[in-house]
Amino acid sequence: MVDQIGTHSSPLLTSTATPCHSPQVTIIGAGKVGSTLAQRIAEKDLANVVLLDVVEGLPQGIALDLMEARGMERHDRFILGTGDYGDTSGSDIVVITAGLARKPGMSRDDLVKINANIVADAARRAIAQSPAAFLIVVTNPLDVMTYVAWQSSGLPPRRVLGMAGGLDAARFQTFIAMELGVSSLDITAMVLGSHGDLMVPLPRHSTVNGVPLTELLDDPTIEQLVQRTRNGGAEIVALMKTGSAYYAPASATCMMIESILHNRLRIHTCAVYLQGEYGIQDLFLGVPCSLGCHGVHRVLELTLTPQENQALQTSAQMVKLQIESALHLINH
Ligand code: NAI
Ligand code: 2OP
Repeated sequence: MVDQIGTHSSPLLTSTATPCHSPQVTIIGAGKVGSTLAQRIAEKDLANVVLLDVVEGLPQGIALDLMEARGMERHDRFILGTGDYGDTSGSDIVVITAGLARKPGMSRDDLVKINANIVADAARRAIAQSPAAFLIVVTNPLDVMTYVAWQSSGLPPRRVLGMAGGLDAARFQTFIAMELGVSSLDITAMVLGSHGDLMVPLPRHSTVNGVPLTELLDDPTIEQLVQRTRNGGAEIVALMKTGSAYYAPASATCMMIESILHNRLRIHTCAVYLQGEYGIQDLFLGVPCSLGCHGVHRVLELTLTPQENQALQTSAQMVKLQIESALHLINH
């Protein structure tokens, strides 16, 4: 028997072997976040990657560049660039990073409408090719786009996730480490709620080697770190002038992918579908959950103070209003 690369395989192999399955991650949108994520996945040897974009040649060029780095980066993962959803079939995970950034003169509603249509179309077409996949949404506004993608995909909610809480927590972790002069590795930071001004960083539930932050820093200093975390995305946009953050966003997405593919059950804060947890219904919102081979295994319900709970409910109400408006704007 001659296999695909033209060599003769042994009878032992042909009689016992089942077809090999290499995990495959499709990334829709080969921009800054998508291309950096493709690099992270391949260089961590997690999965083969299909990178899809509407700009002809862009994903193909990035994929070829990443393929040419394989020997030096010591991995054998395939990276395919394409504009054809047919090439994404059989993916284990689909990540949506496709979208436009807000341009001068464009209202927030304009942006929501454009991105909601892009995300809805991408989710529908990608899941038609990979009905067993998990779907991770990165496109902003995150909590709203995750809801839109879930509805368009028809997937069960535990297989749909939004990436943001892991990034927001990583920023909080970084600012705590910089303030205390300790390693980020010893810090666990917790941020709930929506991705944006109304996110809810939780100093009481953020620890330095197990010690709550509230025992190590005074209130005004903690408040400064909280504000910097809330402003984390905007701080980078203001520095870069064009475009937004992508290294840390790609890392945060990659951690979620690793947890699912390796069934690690690690706790990540992700936008997940809430059905009564934290008193919230029918919304995707950032809460801590364990991720494994079935997607969301468990949502962790933290005990919140009345003030923390109020901040989370305010965040949820804002997302609810934005979802109603986005659903109205799609295809109008
Ligand atoms: P980018 O502009 O570099 O890349 C977006 C890509 O999407 C472009 O290559 C574009 O051609 C492509 N695209 C547009 N329409 C498409 C379609 N219909 N099908 C396939 N591809 C399409 O943007 P970047 O920096 O990669 O960010 C991507 C998105 O992620 C933005 O919405 C950004 O706000 C969001 N983001 C979210 C974060 C989070 O924490 N959730 C963090 C960082 C970025
Ligand atoms: C960020 O937080 C833009 O959502 C993106 O960097």
